[in-house]
Amino acid sequence: MSAATETRPGPTEAAAGLRARGVVMRFGGVTALDDVAIELAVGTWTGLIGPNGSGKTTLLNVLSGVYRPQAGSIELDGVDVGGARAGRLARAGIVRTFQHPQLAESLTVWENLLLGVDLRRRRQGRRGAEAPAGPGAEELLEVFGCTRYAGHLPAEAPYGIRKSVELARAVVAEPGVLLLDEPAAGLSKEERSELVGSLRWVRERRPDLAVCLIEHDVRLVAAVCPTIQVLNFGRVLAVGTAAEVLRAPAVQEAYLGRSARHLDRDGGGS
Ligand SMILES: Nc1ncnc2c1ncn2[C@@H]1O[C@H](COP(=O)(O)OP(=O)(O)OP(=O)(O)O)[C@@H](O)[C@H]1O
Ligand SMILES: [Mg+2]
Repeated sequence: MSAATETRPGPTEAAAGLRARGVVMRFGGVTALDDVAIELAVGTWTGLIGPNGSGKTTLLNVLSGVYRPQAGSIELDGVDVGGARAGRLARAGIVRTFQHPQLAESLTVWENLLLGVDLRRRRQGRRGAEAPAGPGAEELLEVFGCTRYAGHLPAEAPYGIRKSVELARAVVAEPGVLLLDEPAAGLSKEERSELVGSLRWVRERRPDLAVCLIEHDVRLVAAVCPTIQVLNFGRVLAVGTAAEVLRAPAVQEAYLGRSARHLDRDGGGS
């Protein structure tokens, strides 16, 4: 269990996927990220956990080009993309969802999915003809349980459906890197277990996808992410398998306010 190594990749080990190192992000006097590294290799699912305010969303904002960090490097498939804006990164294959779903409210659920399809089409030229076709919009609406709301405006759908629509829209864009900010927040227990099923379905259908999933529900994280990275006060506290990270004394300590036993119960043995 360790943070990413300090060595620079040679040409042959230029990792496919997203890799950030030494990221520093300050807001005035607040250091939200302090020398943070993360590696999202092709075909891996990484859970990003940590107490409130530990910098999880800020890291996603940096990786998706919403924020430009004061220091650090970000590489996509071995190419430096540091400083690129969100739109360019989305076209390059880094697609994300938000802690509070961001949908086009004047469009129907179906039309929101078509925005993802449109992004996929704009990316297609870059990916080449041999790129495998991922699941389509209709199939994703079905998998995420949104089909009956296809003709409705997002505002007419329950919160859980709005979150699912945003996720389906992200997946239909066929990203190379998918960044999910608390996809289970605000969902009922039943909706959470359906979400786990949908995410596992995506994992099987898109084995080439690199995913970073932020979530407070460590049981859910461990159910879909073999690797977990922990942030605490803007620094990487631990990286490793779900079982070893959730049992690490430093991680339990960081979560003491939320009950370390809760971590043991939810994360252990999953
Ligand atoms: N735009 C901003 N301006 C000023 N401070 C910010 C901004 N965004 C984040 N911060 C600060 O950076 C720190 C990390 O916030 P961040 O939202 O990344 O935490 P988080 O781990 O996502 O928390 P949560 O689990 O509550 O969503 C906090 O102290 C927060 O107040
Ligand atoms: Mg957050």
